[in-house]
Amino acid sequence: MNPIELEQKYLVHAYNRPPIVLTDGQGAWLEDADGNRYLDLVAGIAVSALGYGDAAIAQTICEAGKKPLHYSNLYHNEPMARLAAKLVEITPFADRVHFQNSGTESTEAAMKFARKFARTHFGEGKTNIVAFTGAFHGRTMGALAVTPREKYQKPYLPLMPGVRFAAFNDIESATAAIDDSVCAVILEPIQGEGGIHPAEEAFLVALRELTHQHNALLIFDEVQCGVGRTGSFWAHEQYGVLPDILCSAKPLANGLPIGAVLVTERVADVIHPGDHGTTFAGGPFVTSVANVVVDRISDPAFLQRVRETGAYFKERLESLDNPHIQEVRGRGLMLGVQLDMPAAPAVQAGYKHGLLLLNAGADVLRLVPPLIISKDEIDIAVERLAAVLVEVG
Ligand SMILES: Cc1ncc(COP(=O)(O)O)c(C=O)c1O
Repeated sequence: MNPIELEQKYLVHAYNRPPIVLTDGQGAWLEDADGNRYLDLVAGIAVSALGYGDAAIAQTICEAGKKPLHYSNLYHNEPMARLAAKLVEITPFADRVHFQNSGTESTEAAMKFARKFARTHFGEGKTNIVAFTGAFHGRTMGALAVTPREKYQKPYLPLMPGVRFAAFNDIESATAAIDDSVCAVILEPIQGEGGIHPAEEAFLVALRELTHQHNALLIFDEVQCGVGRTGSFWAHEQYGVLPDILCSAKPLANGLPIGAVLVTERVADVIHPGDHGTTFAGGPFVTSVANVVVDRISDPAFLQRVRETGAYFKERLESLDNPHIQEVRGRGLMLGVQLDMPAAPAVQAGYKHGLLLLNAGADVLRLVPPLIISKDEIDIAVERLAAVLVEVG
């Protein structure tokens, strides 16, 4: 049996995949078992920021792979300590880091820390968490509870109690939801899965004021929009509003599983040994690679290049003369093309045109390529996308 037949027979059918077996990649390109090449505008869902076959990543993996892969959190390890120091150094609001293995785990850690913070300082009863329409924070039970998609939640009810939803970018709705019973407000500064919707500056400013007023913590979920994706290391830097907790994951180790929450000293102060933990997180193999990623992406010249290629991509998309394109949204290389038709047929047609595409919701194409994509490659991508939209339009 070939890999597709094996998967159909032996894997739980939790994903719909196209009949393509990816086998290799270089830069912003992936290759399948039949030798077809695809320009990748997906990056493994905003993960492979440095693309494929990066020499420094490969060398780090070879060196770290010769050493023990795992020591557990029972012991200190140097790459983890170095990564934590680096993340704190480049993140003005943050004083400390706690590592996880994925985005959803970073959401869980953030919410647990917020509940413990409120319980420590304000006693019982301050347990509610406010999240927003269109949000996506992960699939584990706690993260799912703050991810208001009926399709995702309904089969698994009951979820974690104590969650309230307000309308995204709606200050009035947020004001009504946030009171003294709230321990945290969680949101993505730029919503990803929900359709690439940037928060408005006034909305973030209002949330910061409301959370201060009601002694609640502000959690920014930068799992998708963080680590250079929008042209600054963190997306919130472009807003000038600082959170108390930040969730990171996806691109942080360029494809190896990692999650991290960055917190202020005030938050870190309430967490003591035994309060929260995980077997694998912060392991030397993964954090060795994450050090390479953070060094590279935090370089101002790298971020400048993301801003330039992102602006160029947006401009090229906006100049496409296709009646199905309603709007191009987003920042840096986190772009959403709002269509007036379903996005799924375009994603399907993309394979034939050598283009990997992804939707965000029903009618938005989400373009989140490796951050190292060149302007020449963006020209190719736009040309192919134009052909795809003509074909399915
Ligand atoms: C903003 C955001 N938070 C959390 C998650 C969950 O991350 P993971 O799939 O690594 O659990 C995602 C995944 O898409 C995300 O986009």
